Amino acid sequence: MNGPLKVALLGCGTVGSAVLRALQEQADDLGARIGRPVEVAGVAVRRPSHHPDVPAHLLTTDAHELVARDDVDLVVEVIGGIEPARSLMLAAFEAGKSVVSANKALLAEDGVALHDAAAKAGVDLYYEAAVAGAIPILRPLRESLVGDQLSRIVGIVNGTTNYILSRMAETGAGFGEALAEATELGYAEADPTADVDGFDAAAKAAILASLAFHTPVAAADVHREGIATVTATDVARAAEIGCTVKLLAICERVPGNGDGNGDSVAVRVHPAMIPTTHPLASVGGAFNAVFVEAEAAGQLMFYGQGAGGEPTASAVLGDLVAVARNRVTGAPGPGVTGYANLAVRPMAETPTRYHVSLDVADKPGVLAAVAQEFAQHGVSISTVRQTGRGDAATLVIVTHSAPDAALSATIGALREMPAVRGVTSVLRVEGLS
Ligand code: HSE
Repeated sequence: MNGPLKVALLGCGTVGSAVLRALQEQADDLGARIGRPVEVAGVAVRRPSHHPDVPAHLLTTDAHELVARDDVDLVVEVIGGIEPARSLMLAAFEAGKSVVSANKALLAEDGVALHDAAAKAGVDLYYEAAVAGAIPILRPLRESLVGDQLSRIVGIVNGTTNYILSRMAETGAGFGEALAEATELGYAEADPTADVDGFDAAAKAAILASLAFHTPVAAADVHREGIATVTATDVARAAEIGCTVKLLAICERVPGNGDGNGDSVAVRVHPAMIPTTHPLASVGGAFNAVFVEAEAAGQLMFYGQGAGGEPTASAVLGDLVAVARNRVTGAPGPGVTGYANLAVRPMAETPTRYHVSLDVADKPGVLAAVAQEFAQHGVSISTVRQTGRGDAATLVIVTHSAPDAALSATIGALREMPAVRGVTSVLRVEGLS
């Protein structure tokens, strides 16, 4: 049992090649940390000719054959997407091999079945790199914070959108202009849909919520809005009230309301204003951060690089050392529990706060009529500010917390009011006292 542990690497793109390089260049250190030498058994790729830097004897196009090989002990999956990654992982578990993955889409779609298969086989499934790249957040949730009660996680977990929103705040640019700059500089992909429309962040939110609340949450359970509708006016209005606009992944435990409904979880991704004094407001450019609130630990923030080959490889390698150590000691690490199985609360019933900016005529009765619409929908107003006068007055209203459906119905009613010339900005607000 003292021969080298052998690793099958599935995929050799930006992350895979950084993992391979580290496994080759730091083999001695990694082996010493694991307690047994570690070697690459093979690298499965679609087109071997695209990988001149990988030793030819390691390359194969047959990932299934590589996973099944008797001399392979551990599998690293950095292919991404649903298939063939899922079948390969299941095949690895069936063969008694632990898997390290960076696959947020797959874990967010099918995490329960994959964890069940790993547990049944008595092996590990670790995927730190799937959320927020280099930032250690999943194992802190699975291990360090598992004795605490988590109430809320608010994350900036998509670097592309954080770069775009940061540039909009810095330059006053609109969304289209900032996206064009991000594409030119390589911060946004040629097809930016997954990032800009919030799909990437929603998958990460599902994974964070599942671990934080011991409750299965899939990407389909996450309310998702992207940043394409955020305007330069929204960003300017945010600055006027001491806020900045961020795409937030919010996972929270919502206490039961005492009428027989127990606690539930609400998981959402949408742009929101947050005070510039909030720790997440200072997370600029393509950086990621995850802000955690726990009953005993209080507030914690995890910050760092959320993408890129080397940073993401750091998370993969950390998991690889962990599962290799477990293999050496002969017992898998802690699994993932879904015992709490809390209901997922629909967005319409999730409490949120809105910031609304209206163009109105400055005439007697207008403010009363506007306030009346909020009251009729059961929405309490926190602050009202008016600028301008005559025909060009602007009312800026920040609400207290209310069910999201009541807030959006109020906005619909305001748009119909003759006294309201235009609803110029609507954004949710987080973290205001
Ligand atoms: N595309 C992601 C981002 C990185 O922009 O943060 C990988 O999840």
